[in-house]
Amino acid sequence: MASFPNVVVLDHPLVQHKLTRLRQVTTSTAGFRRLTREISLLMAYEATRDLKLEPVEIETPLEPMTATMLSGKKLCFVSILRAGNGILDGMLDLVPAARVGHIGLYRDPDTLEPVEYYIKLPDDLSERFCIVVDPMLATGHSAVVAVTKLKQAGAKQIAFVCLLSVPEGLATFTEAHPDVKVITAAIDRELDEHGYIRPGLGDAGDRLFGTK
Ligand code: URA
Repeated sequence: MASFPNVVVLDHPLVQHKLTRLRQVTTSTAGFRRLTREISLLMAYEATRDLKLEPVEIETPLEPMTATMLSGKKLCFVSILRAGNGILDGMLDLVPAARVGHIGLYRDPDTLEPVEYYIKLPDDLSERFCIVVDPMLATGHSAVVAVTKLKQAGAKQIAFVCLLSVPEGLATFTEAHPDVKVITAAIDRELDEHGYIRPGLGDAGDRLFGTK
């Protein structure tokens, strides 16, 4: 398989175990939602690994000490609608104060290109570390457009988090945005002729929201 220098596969045993349960066709909507939330919290842990710390003076019940707290850039999670919202919950469990943006894209039936139908972002994006979330990096087209929109809105530091990806989508995305780190729980075999990731987990939005 091609290697992608700016892509991290989160091969932690807990993530892989939960991902397998997520893939299973027998997993219920409630189970799918809970597993997505749990995996997303662990993905957020990895995605925020490089946040900067600064020293702070505090007092423990026993003595003063110099401890560390987050400094500098604050976070903004950006969900690609609608399945990205499933990932937001787990990330916000870990970082409840993060700002949240939404980008809605649909695929034009004629050109098959993503078209924006909704965008709402915080206005101080240039001061925030933006983590874009979508469970599936399939063709990569939506992810490319979403990150382009964020850059146009002023974002300077961006990461992309997904549960599953495929080599084709990673190649498209990393070529368009070589400066954006991708964190994924697995790189699957291929895209099928309908744009589904194989072996995959099916339609992430339908499984999260119980639609069909
Ligand atoms: N989106 C999904 O929800 N599933 C896929 O397999 C590909 C794109």
